[in-house]
Amino acid sequence: MDFYDVVYSRRAIRQYKPDMVPQEILLKIFNAANWAPSGMNMQQWEFIVVSGSKKNQIGESYARFSEKYTADWDDQARRENFLKFARNFGGSPLLIVALTKASKENSMRKMHLESVSAAFENLLLAACAEGLGTCWMTGPLQDEAGIRKILDIGDDKELVALTPIGYPDMTPAAPDRVDPELKAKIRWVE
Ligand SMILES: Cc1cc2nc3c(=O)[nH]c(=O)nc-3n(C[C@H](O)[C@H](O)[C@H](O)COP(=O)(O)O)c2cc1C
Repeated sequence: MDFYDVVYSRRAIRQYKPDMVPQEILLKIFNAANWAPSGMNMQQWEFIVVSGSKKNQIGESYARFSEKYTADWDDQARRENFLKFARNFGGSPLLIVALTKASKENSMRKMHLESVSAAFENLLLAACAEGLGTCWMTGPLQDEAGIRKILDIGDDKELVALTPIGYPDMTPAAPDRVDPELKAKIRWVE
């Protein structure tokens, strides 16, 4: 797929087929992530590929957390939908959790987070080029303690994002651009 076709066609996928992603495809995608730019060339990203009972545990923990968080939502159908996605991540066979080095120093922390974000976007675009779906998620990090416990992640790491990954079982419409003609988003200065 042409690079721009990948950029324009990548969507947040929230429903997946149960089929497993072959390991060689996963490694190809991680390799694209591993070629991202990084602050001080530290390449400070790490990924955990989660499946089976550990993935179920993360879903159960996030769903329990979300039940409280959505308790006052009036729209019950929306709430059910949200809780279902929280519990099984749209039926994806895998989750990928992205981590970086933890830092208490603000500018270092920012650099680590941005480096992993660059790698994560490479990963999402490479997955799309391979016909796979993903959904960048930070919502589950609200249940950070639960995820740390389930995956045995220490305080020296910061959780950055996670994504389900698998073959899409939906084709979402592309959301409109807020500023399609880029009149407000860019300021040209001479
Ligand atoms: C930093 C970030 C956090 C996000 N967190 C969530 C999330 O917790 N749950 C979710 O369903 N989608 C999440 N998304 C996906 C966005 O909702 C999605 O990218 C946006 O609606 C645009 O749709 P598109 O990705 O199909 O273009 C997140 C995206 C980003 C970049």
